[in-house]
Order: sequence, then C-alpha cells, then structure tokens
Amino acid sequence: LHIAVLMGGWSAERPVSLMSGSGVADALESLGHRVTRIDMDRDVALRLAETKPDVVFNALHGSPGEDGTVQGMLDLMGLPYTHSGLATSVIAIDKQLTKQALVPHGIPMPGGRIVGTEELFERDPLPRPYVLKPVNEGSSVGVAIVTDEGNYGNPIAREATGPWQEFDELLAEPFIRGRELTTAVLGDRALAVTELRPKSGFYDFDAKYTEGLTEHVCPADIPEDIAEACKAIAVAAHQRLGCRGASRSDFRWDDSQGVEGLFLLEVNTQPGMTPLSLVPEQARAVGMSYPQLVQWIVDEALT
Ligand code: DAL
Ligand code: MG
Repeated sequence: LHIAVLMGGWSAERPVSLMSGSGVADALESLGHRVTRIDMDRDVALRLAETKPDVVFNALHGSPGEDGTVQGMLDLMGLPYTHSGLATSVIAIDKQLTKQALVPHGIPMPGGRIVGTEELFERDPLPRPYVLKPVNEGSSVGVAIVTDEGNYGNPIAREATGPWQEFDELLAEPFIRGRELTTAVLGDRALAVTELRPKSGFYDFDAKYTEGLTEHVCPADIPEDIAEACKAIAVAAHQRLGCRGASRSDFRWDDSQGVEGLFLLEVNTQPGMTPLSLVPEQARAVGMSYPQLVQWIVDEALT
C-alpha cells in the first residue's frame, strides 16, 4: 500500500506527534509499504492531493489533528484514514463534551466545571485539592493540581506560573487521590490495564516522555474487579463515542473506595505511538508487536 503518515502539525503536542509518526512510518516501511511522511502544514490538502495515498495514517495529536478538522478534510477528499472520524473526534478532544456524552449513560467521570481565568483569582472554583486543565489539550499540557498547601496562593495569585497564563478558561475537576490507570481498546477489545507510577509528582508531560521517570506496571497490580471495570468502561466509552480503530481510556482510581472510586478522565482517540506510549505497550502484552499493531490500525481504516 501507499500510505501517507500525517504527523507534526502545530499543536502543543507537535514533538509527541513527530515521535509517533516516525515510529509508525518506520514500522510501515519495515512491512514493505510505500510511505510518504507529511509534517502537516497549511498546504497539507495540496500535498495529499499530489501524493494520492491509498490510506492516511493520522499520527497527529492535539488540535488540529485530533479534533475533527483533519478528519473533515480527509472525508471531503475521499481519503480513508486511521482512527476516529469527524464527529467522534470533535467530542472526544473536548473533556467537557465527553462527559456530557458519557455520564448520562452511566459511565463514571469526575464532576467539574469550566471556569474563566479571572474567576480563579477571586475564589477557588472547587474545594482543594482540584485539578485545572485545558478542555482540549493532551499529554497533560497545561495541567495544574491545586492543593491545600497553597502551592499557587489561596486564592491563586495572578502572578503564579500556571495554565491560567495561557488559557482563557479551564476545566476544574476534583482531584482524585490514588492511582493512575489506563486501558487501550482495539475495535471492541480492551487489551490490558496499565498502572502509571511516576517517580515524583504526577504523570505530567516529562513523566510521560522521559525514559525512567515513570514505572509502567502492566498488567496493573490491582483487584480483578477494578481491572474488569476499567476494561468494561473503556469499551463502553469507545462504543458510545463511536470511536474507530484504537483508543485509550485514562482513569483515576481512589483505592480506598473500591470500584466506587474509579473514574474515567478522558478517551484519547489518537493515542500516542511513541516508544514510551501505552497502546503499543499493551499490544505487546497481548502478543502483538508494534508493526502488527500499526498494520492492524491500517487494516481497520480500510474496512
Ligand atoms: N495525547 C497523547 C499523545 C496520548 O494520549 O497518548
Ligand atoms: Mg489525552
């Protein structure tokens, strides 16, 4: 096949996407496919029209790329592409829209609300500890955990360094103490549950992409009912949102609360494919090599 691998772009996750894209492109070449690597710019539609690939491997993360824009362009061009389609992407990139889509169907997610930055300097939007995050970024870009210790002042000081300096509004959610879990879904099959144990702080951008900063425990050392709940929720969320191909659902689990303490944080429709990424790791755990995973995702795009 002739496969165009779309990567890079100009979201905050550009460096992650370049790593995902080159891993995918190398794997596709090793499988004997003809690969055109495209670092997405404003002329991407022209480049694709010239390239005329059989299928596009979308290795973009963040916006644009994971948010429906690129999916809509590819729909219009009549090019098959990997991962989720337009409508699913629009909803899944937005953590608040995702809640609105999933919570009514019984999927447990933390409550939360959108707050304007100015409001943060006047009073806390939720009791501490709480999390502030942009609604539509990935890789923990712009995430801050505001604790009782007054790490940013109380209320947050205008001068304090944090995501409020870059974003006009943020999603505030209660911070769920305990553990960080994740489950990949391929089609309608949940692969495994991984626990992420950052050596310090939380599973932020550096902890995600610097080798050795986070211990990955796969399969997670958790009770069977929690593992089963993660898998069931991840599959239900994938199906409810209409995801295609691979997705990855991220959870927090308050282990003092049993299954009642398990909350889905979000569904990633363009999960990372870097060497430290979790979907490839879980695929390996069920006997699927990285090239086999990449080929599976391509095949899924063509069915
Ligand atoms: N947003 C990153 C790429 C992930 O979900 O893996
Ligand atoms: Mg994400």
